[in-house]
Amino acid sequence: MQVVRTVAEVRAALVALRAGLGAVGFVPTMGALHEGHLSLVRAAKEGCGSVIVSIFVNPTQFGPNEDFAKYPRTFEADCALLEAEGVDLVFAPQVEEMYPQGAATFVEVEGLSDRLDGASRPGHFRGVATVVAKLFHIVQPTRAYFGQKDAAQVAVLRRMVRELHFPLELVACATVREADGLAMSSRNRYLSVEERKQALVLKRALDAIAALQAAGERDAAALRAAGLRVIEAEPAAKLDYLKLVHPLTLEDVARTEGETLVAVAAWIGSTRLIDNVVLGDR
Ligand code: PAJ
Repeated sequence: MQVVRTVAEVRAALVALRAGLGAVGFVPTMGALHEGHLSLVRAAKEGCGSVIVSIFVNPTQFGPNEDFAKYPRTFEADCALLEAEGVDLVFAPQVEEMYPQGAATFVEVEGLSDRLDGASRPGHFRGVATVVAKLFHIVQPTRAYFGQKDAAQVAVLRRMVRELHFPLELVACATVREADGLAMSSRNRYLSVEERKQALVLKRALDAIAALQAAGERDAAALRAAGLRVIEAEPAAKLDYLKLVHPLTLEDVARTEGETLVAVAAWIGSTRLIDNVVLGDR
């Protein structure tokens, strides 16, 4: 496995990979890798001749009071995991490589970028879309793999791929969970033992909504109320949002007749966690 730091090195390495192995699979990450990330790597391995993973904690997607500085950085361990998965190339640039001094070019998916996490984290999706557009230009993958765990991110990036005509297939992969249901996240390592238990409330709320939907309820307000009751029963959790939206437009739905994304974000102590489930009703 080759580890490179500059755009020029990625491009040189990719010439060789493309010549030998055909389809290039790409998994963008911010490192602190866990089984969720590795599930994307495995999907890429299955579908593509070669796999490239980027590790870059992208400053432009963090707000001024967010956890950019303390975001976990575990580069050596990440590389060992990726090596074991048979990844061909790791691109781990410095900030200046991705954002040359005075960088003034940004990508914004208007409207979508202001919904769900975009509403709570102004500028977040502008940062995500910008860095992913840069990475797509550099890597020029055949397929790029993202986790459904970040459902709004998938919606924003799908729109960007379509509207900027990136010649690639965006593949969304299922959320990987711990045995007790907690969605895996690099931020779970911020949780104390007590908070780790309290964090299960997100999944419990989604389960309650899914159960009510399965029982025949289709009124979004009623479904949401059932989820809210679960969150309110856990005093340690501070709700950011709980929404039932269309999975592509992220607009609120009144009834859950078609596919509906149920997305939740909540603070457990000083850690903000997100989770979601898609109610299918086809
Ligand atoms: P990061 O949080 O490191 O996640 C990298 C990828 O792993 C994303 O596509 C994310 O949805 C996926 N992922 C995280 N947890 C997952 C889980 N439990 N199950 C399945 N997939 C999971 O998302 C980002 O980084 C950044 O915004 C990035 C796209 C790299 C741009 O900076």
